[in-house]
Amino acid sequence: MAKRRIGILTSGGDCPGLNACIRGVAKASYELFDAEIVGIQDGYRGLIQGQWREMERGEFSGILTLGGTILGTARTPYRNMRVIEEDEVNKVEEMKKNYKKMKLDCLVTLGGNGTHKTANLLAQEGLNVIGLPKTIDNDIYGTDVTFGFHTALDIATDVVDRIHTTANSHGRIMVIEIMGNKAGWLTLYAGLAGGADIILLPEVPYQEKYVLEAIRRRQEDGKRFTIIAIAEGAKNAQEGAMKKKEFRASRAEMPFSGVSYRLAHDIENELGCETRVVVPGHIQRGGSPSAYDRVLSTRFGTYAAQLIRDEDYGKTVALRGTQVVANALEDIAGKTKLVPSDSELITAGRMIGVSFGDE
Ligand code: F6P
Repeated sequence: MAKRRIGILTSGGDCPGLNACIRGVAKASYELFDAEIVGIQDGYRGLIQGQWREMERGEFSGILTLGGTILGTARTPYRNMRVIEEDEVNKVEEMKKNYKKMKLDCLVTLGGNGTHKTANLLAQEGLNVIGLPKTIDNDIYGTDVTFGFHTALDIATDVVDRIHTTANSHGRIMVIEIMGNKAGWLTLYAGLAGGADIILLPEVPYQEKYVLEAIRRRQEDGKRFTIIAIAEGAKNAQEGAMKKKEFRASRAEMPFSGVSYRLAHDIENELGCETRVVVPGHIQRGGSPSAYDRVLSTRFGTYAAQLIRDEDYGKTVALRGTQVVANALEDIAGKTKLVPSDSELITAGRMIGVSFGDE
């Protein structure tokens, strides 16, 4: 039986399903070859600083339903990977050195877009790397879905559902801010699943006048309340026309703690109706993975073990249709899967009377 020594790390924001996926990699590896597993603490930071430990088989049992990550995680931005900062550490060289010190045959990285960019960088530096796509944002290029997304969707949908009764009792406008800075998948799906009346996405800049019109229309129809699902990264038309830097600067100066508060303030000002903001925030990333994510994470993790058995490195696992497949890291790194403005989901929303604030 071939021997493989595997390093595993989880990097970037956590999400439900990370442990299920780690378990999938580990259990399948023990089945497929003579595996030794090294757990790297807190993502790339641990790889840079040399924080790791040999893991025991038993550590991968009983974690299928556990939220978060048993390995810990941290954000170690890709843009700084090649930058020597005040601590004078050459991060890329340290990662390569520690990979060698651990005597790894391969490194498995569970993470989102930033994690995949660094995974690709390390692959180009000659390390054997395999990526696994996690994020509640569902914005990794080349995969129909990422693990973590469906659990967050269930949670966000429950929020939208529950807000309906209190919105109706009080006859209020409720603005629900859903996670997703660049990509609006979570807001779009949760908005449709929860029956939101207005859905505002980063990819579809909105005009306030259309949002107000949509609320007025509902009021004229005798509706007591309006539910707005807004992505944390939603932009108005003016912001939509800005370059990245200008947009960041203008957001930094915004006198509200989020776009949802700005919108709620403007609605109250313009229409004089009681408006409340709900920010479920990190609750969307907390707790046990859904059944869907447990299965997806297991499929992804076990597929990664097969890639390791076959020494098929420089890949990331993906779902295409109903099939688990592998994409080359270099083909997907640095790309983001956004909601296309002609998405069939948006069309479906429009057909049932949802306003996207753009017409
Ligand atoms: O990438 C996942 C995500 O939850 C985004 O939706 C959100 O914008 C961001 O992470 C929040 O990051 P942090 O956990 O660092 O506050």
